[in-house]
Amino acid sequence: MPLVRVPATTANLGPGFDTLGMALELYDEIRIEEADFPQIEVTGEGEGAIPRGPENIAYKAAQAVYERVGKTGVAFRLKMHNNIPVARGLGSSAAAIVGGLVGANLLLGNPLDQEEMVSLATKLEGHPDNVAPAILGGLVVSANEGGRVYYERLNPPEGLVAVVAIPKFTLSTRMSRSVLPEKVSFSDAVFNVSRVALLLASIENNNLELMGKMMDDKLHQPYRIPLVKGMAEVFDAAREAGALAVALSGSGPTVIAFCKDKQPQVGKTMAQAFARNGVNCVIRELSPCHRGAVKI
Ligand code: HSE
Repeated sequence: MPLVRVPATTANLGPGFDTLGMALELYDEIRIEEADFPQIEVTGEGEGAIPRGPENIAYKAAQAVYERVGKTGVAFRLKMHNNIPVARGLGSSAAAIVGGLVGANLLLGNPLDQEEMVSLATKLEGHPDNVAPAILGGLVVSANEGGRVYYERLNPPEGLVAVVAIPKFTLSTRMSRSVLPEKVSFSDAVFNVSRVALLLASIENNNLELMGKMMDDKLHQPYRIPLVKGMAEVFDAAREAGALAVALSGSGPTVIAFCKDKQPQVGKTMAQAFARNGVNCVIRELSPCHRGAVKI
């Protein structure tokens, strides 16, 4: 029964909506084998809440791989042990999908290559920015063109540490996308295009200071502020405590502060700012993860 370990991911990195994502050193583990009927066990994060029938997204992902090679009607036994908090903006659904895909692909002797895995995972998730780094590790830039996903993997800058403030409440991506406008202004679009371009150039040149300055966003975060109580205050607190940049992690509600090396005061002040707004949160310091989903 192959065991697959899949990293958490933080999507968007501020301005790179549906485009940028980075893997983090926090993992879910999935074991998978063929079975006579669907059997799913879930322990850890999401235990008791994650569906344990064939509607489970890891299960559906495994089926999708089998169907891709013409094997229909196969059932699976899945054992999921999760460390990634669910519906918090740290890529829990991407990890489940990628775990199911990679596990099923292993059972079949790896008929799907990496490109097919990224495209299939994107089809199941709806956007590529979490699934691509969950598969490849590192920092991944991706673009979805009618179902075909183009991507490039970059090494995250050295010395970068992500401090995440994970609120106790959940926020579904669907809800967090429902508040986004259908149209944005030309100047807001230019604002984001220039930030993403310079963000990538600064990563390439390992210029952490510039990277920090290029993480502001006008396309999604301003619209999501009402969904995350205390968000603006937490952003200010992290910056004042010395973070290089602060962003909503994926569609939230987790707030992610990027720091040069470890900075314990950043997490502390973020937790205090959330608490002032009546929100309890867990603080974790996570390093970028260089490896994507892997059989262990
Ligand atoms: N790019 C997606 C969003 C990420 O912000 O809605 C969801 O994790």
